[in-house]
Amino acid sequence: MTKSKKLIAPSILSADFAALGEEVRAVDKAGADWIHVDVMDGHFVPNITIGPVIVEAVKKHTKLPLDVHLMIESPDDYLEDFVKAGAKIVTVHQEVSKHLHRTVSKIRDLGAKAGVSINPSTSTELLIDILPHVDLILVMTVNPGFGGQKFIESCLDKIQKLSLWRQERGLDFLIEADGGITEATAAAVSKAGCDVFVAGSAIFKADNYETAIEKIRSKL
Ligand code: DX5
Ligand code: ZN
Repeated sequence: MTKSKKLIAPSILSADFAALGEEVRAVDKAGADWIHVDVMDGHFVPNITIGPVIVEAVKKHTKLPLDVHLMIESPDDYLEDFVKAGAKIVTVHQEVSKHLHRTVSKIRDLGAKAGVSINPSTSTELLIDILPHVDLILVMTVNPGFGGQKFIESCLDKIQKLSLWRQERGLDFLIEADGGITEATAAAVSKAGCDVFVAGSAIFKADNYETAIEKIRSKL
């Protein structure tokens, strides 16, 4: 994916699920660039959230790209369902994939952009060989599973490394950071080389979504 401006992707994990359509329309109107959808299976992460039917429902409320983050085991079994439901970007975790190249190829064959994510404890070096084959790398800046956690500073090194490797190798994948992104942490993440900023609680727990998005954007 070609880099242009810095993008903000509100995570609906912190939205009011009983009013999801309204919430999505509100962040769209407030200036969001993507809608981030956190899919959790209770196995890879200790929480269960949503599946393709919710992606399909959300799709009816926005034209923004749906950025689907799969925190699930056996993601290959569900790729087609999520793309059919309307996912524009599908991101899988490096930690669960035995054949990552096959998985990202399948996502692209289905017509979506392919992303790969790593947890804070996963070495960035494990991504080197897949970089030419992906559209996006998602760096978890908290341990995945829940919104509202504290940003882990040491993850900035991962973003810096990825940004450097991208430049050295002439690649064009986007770098996304997810977890603990707020007005206070966004500047350092941006300086490290991040392009896409996922923010859940910092946006959906704010009184005014437009102001919340603008506050983060002013730091990028
Ligand atoms: C965590 C999710 C995040 C989460 C971020 O597992 O992947 O997308 O919603 O929430 P905040 O911004 O509250 O840390
Ligand atoms: Zn996420």
